[in-house]
Amino acid sequence: MRIDVLTLFPEMFVSPLSTSILKRAQDKGLIDIVLTNIRDFATDNYRKVDDKPYGGGPGMVMMPGPVFDCDEYVQKLSPEKGRVILLTPQGQKFNQKKACQLSKEKRLILIAGKYEGFDERIRIGLGAEQISIGDYVLSGGELAAMVIIDTIVRLLPGALGDEDSPKDDSFSQGLLEYPQYTRPEVFRGMKVPDILLSGDHKKIAEWRHQQALERTKKYRPDLLKME
Ligand SMILES: C[S@@+](CC[C@H](N)C(=O)[O-])C[C@H]1O[C@@H](n2cnc3c(N)ncnc32)[C@H](O)[C@@H]1O
Repeated sequence: MRIDVLTLFPEMFVSPLSTSILKRAQDKGLIDIVLTNIRDFATDNYRKVDDKPYGGGPGMVMMPGPVFDCDEYVQKLSPEKGRVILLTPQGQKFNQKKACQLSKEKRLILIAGKYEGFDERIRIGLGAEQISIGDYVLSGGELAAMVIIDTIVRLLPGALGDEDSPKDDSFSQGLLEYPQYTRPEVFRGMKVPDILLSGDHKKIAEWRHQQALERTKKYRPDLLKME
């Protein structure tokens, strides 16, 4: 898989992409992540990529020219046509189901906004899908891109130590995950449930399913109402 990110701040990605699972997945060749700076497509001497909004109002708006030119350049970097995603709080809300769908794509192109956001013609002209990572406003799309990249990469076969890890994760089966315990058996008077020490795998699986259902009912009843 290949993910291109169009951003004004490629340096923000350095640490997340060079650590832990994201680093390993790139080293193993499971994912290619390519950062392209939108500012490199500015056409004036000041490398300007934003301007005042028509009609007045606060802040600056990202100009369409540099984003279009950057997208056209990036599209040509690989023969695979990328699925273009505009990161915006106005988009469809990202979730595990969406992550699963996107992890099956060969190529994604994520466009991160800044300032007051994109000139509307970027949304219209690129015909891009719009994704939001939640109902709040970030100062830029970089963190949203990182959230999406991280969520997708851990779903790629071979990215995690254990292939089965994402199977029981919260949201994967429409439920929160069951409670997990590790050593010691007793910690500050709190004991690991006997069933987990029993070695009876069938009973453990039943218990875990029951626990997943109960905690979903308690903490996220909205998940049980979804299709
Ligand atoms: C300050 S925001 C602009 C918000 C815009 N004025 C609005 O109200 O819709 C700047 C950029 O951050 C990114 N961003 C902010 N919140 C986001 C969210 N919840 N999900 C995805 N991207 C987000 C987008 O790329 C956006 O263009």
